Amino acid sequence: MRAARQSVGRSFVLFLRRLEYHVVMASARDFSPDFLFGASTSAHQVEGHNVASDWWLWERSRARRIELERRGLDPLDFISGEACDHSRRFEEDFAWAKHFGHNAHRFSVEWAKCEPEEGMFNQAAFDHYGAVLEALRRRGIVPIVTLWHWTLPAWLAERGGWEAPDAIRAFSRFVGRVVHDFAGQVRWWVTVNEPTVYAWKAYAKGEWPPQVRSSARTQTVLERLLEAHRKAYEVIKFVDPVSAVGIAHHISAIEPARPHSFFDALAARAARAVAVSRPIAATLVTSDFIGVNYYSRRRVRFSLARPADWFIKTEPSVLATSDLGCEIYPEGLLRALRELARHLKPLLVTENGIADATDTYRARFIVGHLRCVKQALGEAIDVRGYLHWSLLDNFEWAQGFGPRFGLLAVNYLNQQRTPRPSAEIYAEICRTGRLPAP
Ligand code: BGC
Repeated sequence: MRAARQSVGRSFVLFLRRLEYHVVMASARDFSPDFLFGASTSAHQVEGHNVASDWWLWERSRARRIELERRGLDPLDFISGEACDHSRRFEEDFAWAKHFGHNAHRFSVEWAKCEPEEGMFNQAAFDHYGAVLEALRRRGIVPIVTLWHWTLPAWLAERGGWEAPDAIRAFSRFVGRVVHDFAGQVRWWVTVNEPTVYAWKAYAKGEWPPQVRSSARTQTVLERLLEAHRKAYEVIKFVDPVSAVGIAHHISAIEPARPHSFFDALAARAARAVAVSRPIAATLVTSDFIGVNYYSRRRVRFSLARPADWFIKTEPSVLATSDLGCEIYPEGLLRALRELARHLKPLLVTENGIADATDTYRARFIVGHLRCVKQALGEAIDVRGYLHWSLLDNFEWAQGFGPRFGLLAVNYLNQQRTPRPSAEIYAEICRTGRLPAP
């Protein structure tokens, strides 16, 4: 009886969504006026001076310098330093966002700045984020706030980071303080950014601090991050029950390299389970929405030579790629949205972007992916918004300042911002809710 009632309810919701879609279409828009359009950033990548974080120390470590010099690279290009000076220039950056017609913006609060010493909250950092929220509010831009985007306070990293026994308790305390201060001003919370990517890069590949290479520890850290999300969910909902809480999951299209190979299909399925389905399933009950960070496709092949990588090898790209060699593959976003729709949770594209210094592909990339979002909406899939990565060029982690992801180009010598042509094309879509004619 209950199941039948639920099913009728679900059909009714789908009917209403289809109806809304057709009303929007009839009004000559592709996206309704309340669809969230904007861009994403993260604190360490744009703010500058993240001096009490593990990344800050790692970027300056002797081992890191030697490693970069050995590769013939200039270590200075890999030190975040003042980054984009966004901490001081956020008004200017949000003025651009407003000019571009954005009605939403995702940013992260930096734990290492808010709690530079264990248990000692830094009021100045909270005042800063208060000012950031106020600057967005004044411009009518909806904030989407990430609570953890990959950097840890150095004091916690020294004790073992996410492996430390009290890491989750410490994170919950930090979350509690942030939510207590900003409840009511923030409706959308992203607890953790891409837990799988962090665990993989920092604990499996050893490319990020603390540079571990261990499958067992990768698994532990991933479990910890999912648990950290669940606890954060409880804390947030306790303080602010009406807010929406989710994770920004990294979701790439993972496909078999040889479409007719049984083993490649198996490899793709295993990779999808580990990287996408399991982390989502493990956090579904404690998620009000599913954040989708979609960039590209991975073609995988079964390989006996890769036991450490679960016998999976990623094949070279075959389509046009970004400056970082990532395939441009919008269909993968549509497939991801269709796949996620079965969870019956609102979806939010929390990141989608391209490293493209010459701005050759970005406009097509944005339009191509938004066509897929439009298609998903037409299928009554509940997508609430699209946030482009990123508003401005920024510090691309271990790859330093080279990759250019911004709608705004940043000249790091004088911090001057210049809009790229693609920013205007995206702006037109944000302002009108319409995609350009094919
Ligand atoms: C991350 C960002 C990163 C972007 C581009 C995403 O996975 O959340 O921090 O800059 O990818 O590589």
